[in-house]
Amino acid sequence: MTHSYRITLLPGDGIGPEIMSVTVDVLKVVGQQLDISFEFNQALIGGAAIDTTGEPLPAQTLEMCRQSDAVLLAAIGGYKWDNLPRHQRPETGLLGLRAGLGLFANLRPATILPQLLDASTLKREVVEGVDIMVVRELTGGVYFGQPKGLFTTETGEKRGVNTMAYTEAEIDRIGRVAFETARKRSKKLCSVDKANVLEVSQLWRDRITQLASKYPDVELSHLYVDNAAMQLLRAPKQFDTIVTGNLFGDILSDAAAMLTGSIGMLPSASLGNSNPGVFEPVHGSAPDIAQQDKANPLAQVLSAAMMLRYGLNQPQAAESIEQAVLKVLEKGDRTGDIMSPGMKQLGCRGIGESLIKVLENA
Ligand code: IPM
Ligand code: MG
Repeated sequence: MTHSYRITLLPGDGIGPEIMSVTVDVLKVVGQQLDISFEFNQALIGGAAIDTTGEPLPAQTLEMCRQSDAVLLAAIGGYKWDNLPRHQRPETGLLGLRAGLGLFANLRPATILPQLLDASTLKREVVEGVDIMVVRELTGGVYFGQPKGLFTTETGEKRGVNTMAYTEAEIDRIGRVAFETARKRSKKLCSVDKANVLEVSQLWRDRITQLASKYPDVELSHLYVDNAAMQLLRAPKQFDTIVTGNLFGDILSDAAAMLTGSIGMLPSASLGNSNPGVFEPVHGSAPDIAQQDKANPLAQVLSAAMMLRYGLNQPQAAESIEQAVLKVLEKGDRTGDIMSPGMKQLGCRGIGESLIKVLENA
């Protein structure tokens, strides 16, 4: 039986359109092979939306996302929009999308592929075997807490304010996702906070600790975020699943990404309770290399695999894409960011063609 899905595509800015185009080609081939049909509808977000409509997340885009089975997002942002007022910034569109769809759980896997061991800036023996899942809270914390804004003090001085806040319910729901995730992996969960300084983190630690009694099969540990950053670089293999708040998760997932060689390899899934999920690479829009056919499309392609697995319950199709990525790397095909001696350097489109060839010969 043919399964049919409506996918909203949000290519966004910078390298977004190039990596999206490769990914759509890959999805079409896998769809044909496994009898899955996709109806792709494209919408505007970020700078591209600002240029056309004046706002970074047009209501029409959010509505189209709500009406679809899953959303595939590439990247947003660029120098051109960096000086606009906050409500018109591309990033505000992305945050609006996450909040608008209630996507509170962000899964960011960082797995070192044997084929890329030498692409990491860290020593082989440090990164070999690394397989980490960062579970980042995505719709709360300092990104969304009130009060926020630029205020003027009595002396006329400007004062910038953001508030890091979490309610018990917000901590519990991300905690449950994290424990469930750890349970499906090697049953080790590390919760990261700054409980030695922040009240919000103390609450975080208390709730996660309480929740642990419901998951006796999962081994829970806690780290302060500064130590966690150090441990990630010192001995990353001690980690399996990490759960943390929005800002700490943003930072630690970039650090975890570099263990794998390049942030150009890392996909993510943003999930909520009812709305469709958003699947996007961890990296940004890389405006410095946009439209030069240099971008690594693999994080986007692997985000499509996460979409198939977590959003559409099509694990076989996900597996097929992940295997194709491994085979392309096996052949030695590389973009510049993961290039190493003896390998063959290709552009974004070249990697796309290589993926299709591998899929067609599978
Ligand atoms: C990410 C990005 C975003 C974030 C930006 C672009 C708003 O860095 O997804 O990690 O901070 O969440
Ligand atoms: Mg980030």
